[in-house]
Amino acid sequence: MHASFLALALAASAASVVNAQSSASLAALCKVYPNTPACELSAVCASQATNPACASTDAILASACADPASAAHPSCTPKPTAAPVKGLPTAKAASADVASLCGEMPGMDGCLGTFMCPPANATTGVADCNQMAALGSLCQDMPGMTGCKADWAPFCQAAGNLTPFCAKAAGAGTPTSMSMSMPMPGATAAPGAPSGANANSVVGSLTAVVAAAVAAVLAGL
Ligand SMILES: *[C@@H]1O[C@H](CO)[C@@H](O)[C@H](O)[C@H]1NC(C)=O
Repeated sequence: MHASFLALALAASAASVVNAQSSASLAALCKVYPNTPACELSAVCASQATNPACASTDAILASACADPASAAHPSCTPKPTAAPVKGLPTAKAASADVASLCGEMPGMDGCLGTFMCPPANATTGVADCNQMAALGSLCQDMPGMTGCKADWAPFCQAAGNLTPFCAKAAGAGTPTSMSMSMPMPGATAAPGAPSGANANSVVGSLTAVVAAAVAAVLAGL
């Protein structure tokens, strides 16, 4: 009893030391590569620490170091051994998805204003913009699109209602006929049973139809 308590206490203090180290390493990396999904995630985690995607800076650093866009940073040597954040796309994948979606539908909120992504670097395939913010806006509006099913839904299925990538902040965005604010089904929600509709997002049966489509997309993963 006594010994196991001591072992637990030691394990807990060792874990928090490792996490403090990865926090410093991640902060250094994100100063150089702020426009990468791992660093965009790190930034929004500052205010959403209890979200599953924010649970471990070890995991976020591992994601940054698994992404060719930022893997060259000294924080990635030695290579982190933690498992990366579930479903987080690379900068190249997110850039390609945003370019593809905005090529098809340039008028979407996620292609305009602060979301706007310039053409990707021809060598790296990475666009110098907040790719996760743009992809999140686009995919909350059009979850059925190919890039959203491939690179956004798996992340948001694990990250639940992480704002703003998976769930819009209350009152954010311009309501349009295609831009419905709708909560993501939580990671634990049963397929076909999206989590409770937001009082301000009830657009009658249209919302229900879209919610069912999202649930179907997530269930099909
Ligand atoms: C594209 O990325 C490469 C490799 O990081 C870099 O050397 C080059 O300067 C970049 N090109 C532009 C136009 O930014």
